Amino acid sequence: MIELSDVHKSFGNVEVLKGITASVQKGEVVCVIGPSGSGKSTILRCINGLESYDRGEISIEGLKVHRDAPTIVEIRTQVSMVFQRFNLFPHRTALENVVEGPLFVKQEPRAEAYERGRALLARVGLAEKADVHPPQLSGGQQQRVAIARALAMQPKAILFDEPTSALDPELVGDVLGVMRKLADEGMTMVVVTHEMGFARDVADRVLFIDGGVIVEQGPAKALLNQPQHPRTQDFLRRVLHPL
Ligand SMILES: Nc1ncnc2c1ncn2[C@@H]1O[C@H](COP(=O)(O)OP(=O)(O)O)[C@@H](O)[C@H]1O
Ligand SMILES: [Mg+2]
Repeated sequence: MIELSDVHKSFGNVEVLKGITASVQKGEVVCVIGPSGSGKSTILRCINGLESYDRGEISIEGLKVHRDAPTIVEIRTQVSMVFQRFNLFPHRTALENVVEGPLFVKQEPRAEAYERGRALLARVGLAEKADVHPPQLSGGQQQRVAIARALAMQPKAILFDEPTSALDPELVGDVLGVMRKLADEGMTMVVVTHEMGFARDVADRVLFIDGGVIVEQGPAKALLNQPQHPRTQDFLRRVLHPL
């Protein structure tokens, strides 16, 4: 579904993606792990056109990702993104946030969008919070609204950029639970995360990125339990045993 072929990207004269080649199959959950600054967010942002890339090719079901306006709209309706800091509109209710894309990007009929929006909030366990504004919600609840908003576009895939990193520890589980349910239902997902338990249990495959290259990739359990590359071993040791 998502293909990256020799993708290069520089900011100024600093090359942050140095030839990324990877693919994500329909229904697959791929976790992307790696140190801070290694290029994980940049990869996601290039996939959904938030960032341009310099060389190589990215395609989504055969549609080449370009940053010209019609392609961007098409890509954004097919691939949703969930951010670390939720990015909800604070002055709109949870439900209004969820229906924003369907109403204004996809021009769906109002009644239909609102009905589906309520169903999506129920699906993430927030049926009773439809009319509440984000500042009145916990971080975990806001992130679940953001997931409902991503689902509202009926995307072919969802990209998650460290969706639980900004949350208090006791709220992480609810968000990961919703993500696990989506995975079980067959959603195609690319998840940048430091939650190694989630990666081990839910991901089909894991990519380890360091310094703008994929150092190692493989089936989740194999890569996390028996990393082959010394850099992967070192990273996992530091993440799993920080002391
Ligand atoms: N808009 C930008 N302008 C300049 N440098 C950037 C920009 N976005 C990211 N970078 C740099 O690119 C590198 C990779 O960043 P990023 O993809 O955010 O890493 P990660 O998500 O793995 O922490 C970092 O060195 C970062 O400082
Ligand atoms: Mg990042």
